[in-house]
Amino acid sequence: MSMKQVTVAVEGHQYPIFIGSPLLTTASFKDFISSNQVLIISNPTVAAHYLAPLQSALDEFDCEVFLMDDGESYKSLTTFNLIMERLISLGMRRNATIVALGGGVVGDIAGFSAACYQRGVPFIQVPTTLLAMVDSSVGGKTAVNHPLAKNMIGAFYQPQAVIADLACLKTLPQREFNAGMAEVVKYGLIDDFSLFEKIEQNLPHLQPDNSALMAEIVERCCEIKAKVVALDEKETGVRAHLNLGHTFGHAIEKIGDYSRWLHGEAVAIGTLMAMALAEQNNLIDPEYYHRVKTVFACLGLPTSIPDSISSERLIEVMRHDKKNLSEHIRVVVPTGPGVVKVTDEFSVAELCAAIDSGRVTL
Ligand code: NAD
Ligand code: GLY
Repeated sequence: MSMKQVTVAVEGHQYPIFIGSPLLTTASFKDFISSNQVLIISNPTVAAHYLAPLQSALDEFDCEVFLMDDGESYKSLTTFNLIMERLISLGMRRNATIVALGGGVVGDIAGFSAACYQRGVPFIQVPTTLLAMVDSSVGGKTAVNHPLAKNMIGAFYQPQAVIADLACLKTLPQREFNAGMAEVVKYGLIDDFSLFEKIEQNLPHLQPDNSALMAEIVERCCEIKAKVVALDEKETGVRAHLNLGHTFGHAIEKIGDYSRWLHGEAVAIGTLMAMALAEQNNLIDPEYYHRVKTVFACLGLPTSIPDSISSERLIEVMRHDKKNLSEHIRVVVPTGPGVVKVTDEFSVAELCAAIDSGRVTL
């Protein structure tokens, strides 16, 4: 087994991210569990593949399981309430550990449950999607959705450890893998252009079963996220850079009723809109925009929205984004290869022009 380790350090807390393959059955979970009470939270899709190996890795503990339904719509207060009922009825104490086995949906709600139960119990993230390995399991953002808006109810709450077994990627649907790659590209664009170039040069090799390459890629993304989170855990500054493509992307997801586009797909389209905005306002070269668009297309990601969605409609949804701090729409835009800034300087007309230029096909 080969294993990489990245450390996340925030004020008063430090934890490891282990990246390797195989890891589920070999990682030293017990180093991060402080009582015999453990609740694994997962869903039936993930559990079918990975619950049994995880349970055997945890066989010295009194391990209970909560399986939530699979899907973004179950990242809800209703499911949260069911988790609380299970924790209370099992008599879980304040030193019990929650283990999140799954993608970002499971990780976000399990983390939020851990943050709330008895004002906070320890939890471990075991991410099984690429998106969860490089993004959602790291950095302590936990949340559930409200019917009126996504991720509106949540907490910053860091795990005890993140255990990313790259073998899990082999059972991930290709479309989900591609969506995770959109977040990987994001790290290259916000912080490390050599990561973007590595992706560009290795497009045919970026496959779920290429554990050696994926280990390098996931490690680099986690290093960048750990650096950003260490500087700004609560997103008062530089952490906002991680939202490149997300203001446009969240609006695209919402218009698609959270089912037409996966999160990463919407982020890919949104990133290109942010790049078009930068290019039209002379912050970056057109060549940079086209390179990124080509990479997304080669990764099987969508690069534009259909004509049936007007730019005005998208802007209307973007106005309600929780990242806006005033009536102006706040976006992250590239200012050069691997460099971005947060700004609300663009007018609605400029934002509309960027959205519409994204409709041009390759
Ligand atoms: P997901 O959790 O819905 O997983 C995608 C699908 O893949 C699901 O059907 C799941 O059951 C299945 N799956 C998971 N692992 C699998 C595996 N190894 N093999 C086969 N199937 C598998 O989606 P996601 O993209 O992982 O996460 C999206 C969620 O993450 C959203 O709710 C988003 O808001 C959240 N998110 C949170 C953060 C954060 O910082 N907390 C960051 C980004 C996204
Ligand atoms: N996914 C964005 C963040 O963690 O801040």
